[in-house]
Amino acid sequence: MNTHSKEHMMKRTPSAILSAGLAAATALALTGCGGVGDAAQQGGDNGTVGIAMPTKSSDRWVADGDNMVDLFEDAGYATDLQYAEDVVEDQVSQIENMITRDVDALVVAAIDGEALTDVLQMAADSDIPVISYDRLIKGSEHVDYYATFDNFKVGELQATYIEEALDLENEEGPFDIELFGGSPDDNNAYFFYDGAMSVLQPYIDEGTLDVRSGQTDMEQIATMRWSGAEAQSRMDNLLSSHYSGEQIDAVLSPYDGISIGVISSLKAVGYGSEDRPLPVITGQDAELASVKSIVAGEQTQTVFKDTRELAEVAVGMTESVLAGEEPEVNDTESYDNGEKVVPAYLLEPVSVDEDNYEEVLIDSGYYDESELS
Ligand code: GAL
Repeated sequence: MNTHSKEHMMKRTPSAILSAGLAAATALALTGCGGVGDAAQQGGDNGTVGIAMPTKSSDRWVADGDNMVDLFEDAGYATDLQYAEDVVEDQVSQIENMITRDVDALVVAAIDGEALTDVLQMAADSDIPVISYDRLIKGSEHVDYYATFDNFKVGELQATYIEEALDLENEEGPFDIELFGGSPDDNNAYFFYDGAMSVLQPYIDEGTLDVRSGQTDMEQIATMRWSGAEAQSRMDNLLSSHYSGEQIDAVLSPYDGISIGVISSLKAVGYGSEDRPLPVITGQDAELASVKSIVAGEQTQTVFKDTRELAEVAVGMTESVLAGEEPEVNDTESYDNGEKVVPAYLLEPVSVDEDNYEEVLIDSGYYDESELS
């Protein structure tokens, strides 16, 4: 049994994980090396890990990167952390550079899950193992393991929240709802959609929920690169075309950045007042702006995915692979990338609203209360 077994990882309390992170951060500060950098490079006796992340524009990815740097450096690895600001070609060349620099392993959260086939062939030719981080890399057999959350469940949690908030089991409705999807080049977006529709579709079929725009297919509701601005302008169009004089009751949003865009659009036409309350609006990632919005009574819900735990899993997987051991996985069926079913470790997402945010996000040390004011 390797030391990064599931039991080992799951037994670490969030505060223990946090103090490990803090200790590592303090050590970095003392040595004068910022761990929070585009390319955090430090001597590591055990080797170097290349970490390719999609963008800094969302704070979750910044936290993911920082957490991994801390944990890898704690474990004696140097790291090369790169963000590509959602430009696919930049991410490909960052990974190429890591391979050229002969990193020992790669951890990748893809921008476009289907764009890495050639560069992963290069990694395989140099015997560099690849861990797919949060998002599944498709179209390549050279993806060794996948660290993520139960993505279907994320969508289920969002839709169940709407179901309960509107009491769909008992009310006849019809309630008006619009649906937003994630980025069409991100495999997760389809899992979130399928999970949500597993709950919502029966209510749409029986007429308790009405999607006035008629836009219910993933192709119609997808939001390229999870863009809040794109979501905001789609919501502007939906409101002016289908809701003049009508009150919308719920918006399924798969991600906090999209929720914030949707809320701006709603507020611009007068929602958020006593006469015109905001609809139920879901989200994902428990990003600071959205948690503040929940506390202010605007966004209704988010799905928290603890980036500290995900970083732990990914780092543990990488260490196991490099030690020639088999990492602990708990799913060997769900994530077919077109070339293979990638063995995965799925963490549990948690639904958060104004009633439990303190317990889930503050008591666990994920945020400090002062950050929310
Ligand atoms: C997904 C990820 C979500 C959210 C989104 C936008 O792949 O699973 O948690 O972060 O990207 O960044």
